[in-house]
Amino acid sequence: MAWHIDLPGGFVVSDDVGRLDLDRVHRYLAEQSYWAGGRERATVERTVANSLCLGLYAPDGTQMGFARAITDRAVYAHLADVFVGADYRGRGLGQAMVAALFDHPELRTVPCWTLSTRDAQGFYARFGFAAHPEPQTEMVWRRNRSD
Ligand SMILES: CC(C)(COP(=O)(O)OP(=O)(O)OC[C@H]1O[C@@H](n2cnc3c(N)ncnc32)[C@H](O)[C@@H]1OP(=O)(O)O)[C@@H](O)C(=O)NCCC(=O)NCCS
Repeated sequence: MAWHIDLPGGFVVSDDVGRLDLDRVHRYLAEQSYWAGGRERATVERTVANSLCLGLYAPDGTQMGFARAITDRAVYAHLADVFVGADYRGRGLGQAMVAALFDHPELRTVPCWTLSTRDAQGFYARFGFAAHPEPQTEMVWRRNRSD
């Protein structure tokens, strides 16, 4: 059953996948985000199907934000594809949406969260995120199409 949180002003955060406006999510990620430029619509659909996603909805039901946890729902989660529509930023909705994800019934006991960000360290620091204490232990492999 879908889970949701009512926010002040009639905004709602919901995990109802059927409610997501995938055109909107795809458009933002592919055309406006700095991290997922050009991502195919089918790829967005696959990421959504295999993650725990939250939509942020305005009082009229329009989707204004999105956040995604890539997770085993037990010991680890990676926060990804977080955005709030430009017209709705700076009024606490992004924090409320991310807080809702951390408090989601399937995720609230997950002990380890990671994320990557170019410039939103300050936004996430208030939740307790900090630079990795042992960056030399982290590795990444970016697969090329030719690999
Ligand atoms: C980051 C984002 C989701 C924040 O959403 P929001 O609704 O504007 O955030 P809130 O209103 O809840 O919180 C705003 C607070 O976070 C801070 N903040 C917002 N974006 C920030 C950023 N990029 N870096 C540092 N702090 C940031 C603001 O300074 C503000 O602080 P204050 O409460 O002390 O004034 C939104 O700005 C966004 O969609 N940005 C573009 C996409 C993006 O960068 N996503 C994150 C990728 S990791």
